[in-house]
Amino acid sequence: MIDRDVLALPGTPERDLLDEMDFARMPRHIAIIMDGNGRWAKQRGSPRVEGHRAGIASVREMVETCARLKLDALTLYAFSVENWKRPRFEIVTLMSLLKEYLNRELANLLKNDIRFRVVGRMNELDASVQKELSKGLAATSSCRGMTFNIALNYGGRTEIVDACRSLAHDVEAGRLAPEQIDEETLGSRLGTAGLPDPDLLIRTSGEMRVSNFLLWQIAYSEIWVTSTLWPDFRKLHLFEGILEFQKRERRYGGVIDGSREPESGEAAG
Ligand code: IPE
Ligand code: IPE
Ligand code: MG
Repeated sequence: MIDRDVLALPGTPERDLLDEMDFARMPRHIAIIMDGNGRWAKQRGSPRVEGHRAGIASVREMVETCARLKLDALTLYAFSVENWKRPRFEIVTLMSLLKEYLNRELANLLKNDIRFRVVGRMNELDASVQKELSKGLAATSSCRGMTFNIALNYGGRTEIVDACRSLAHDVEAGRLAPEQIDEETLGSRLGTAGLPDPDLLIRTSGEMRVSNFLLWQIAYSEIWVTSTLWPDFRKLHLFEGILEFQKRERRYGGVIDGSREPESGEAAG
């Protein structure tokens, strides 16, 4: 059961939004492109890394809130394969913030029965980062609540290439026939295997692009872009996004039933 009082105190703006929410129509999986840390810092005349540091509070609040909303999965885009182009100091700081977060949050993840997972080429990360990630993966492997996916050294195209390679190896070894390859087989080789596709994709700080995130999985996701910068993003904003999602009409290429028009050849009157 979703506990409203734990999620938001009565009489607060968060609670008003929560009371509007239809718990029967919740997204199962939310994916977030956490953007705008650099701009947030710039507005304050601080170095970019201060924006990343401040963004941790938003991460913590999202993980906790989504778990309390009983989502199946939350995927956060933390570092893309393209982000290696950034200044070395920024990259090193991002990686240490990640280690610090995992170290500090592990007990909380366990307490909330949250299963931690990584998507992206983990083996290319620094050994000390891999060690911290592996610790989190092992410790939460039997958790059965929400899956918290972190996309690290992640690229949608890279992920699809890796999945194709893995299928090609199986074909070469005679374990798989090319005709057996379909959307399901390919999907099962992606980092998100076993999870539902994101129903809702959120991007903060106003940019209208996907930036190589979950290209395969967002085929039919509802997209919500907010101008709020990531370090300012709180559950109030998340609730706004979910309410917006609940207003959307998902068609998946079909038509919505209700006002059925006569079939061609069918007498109209
Ligand atoms: C997102 O914030 C964090 C990462 C990509 C790691 P940015 O650092 O991209 O912030 P802006 O877009 O420069 O404001
Ligand atoms: C996307 O943000 C990557 C992450 C949030 C980790 P970027 O800031 O790197 O994306 P672009 O460069 O604006 O497309
Ligand atoms: Mg950015």
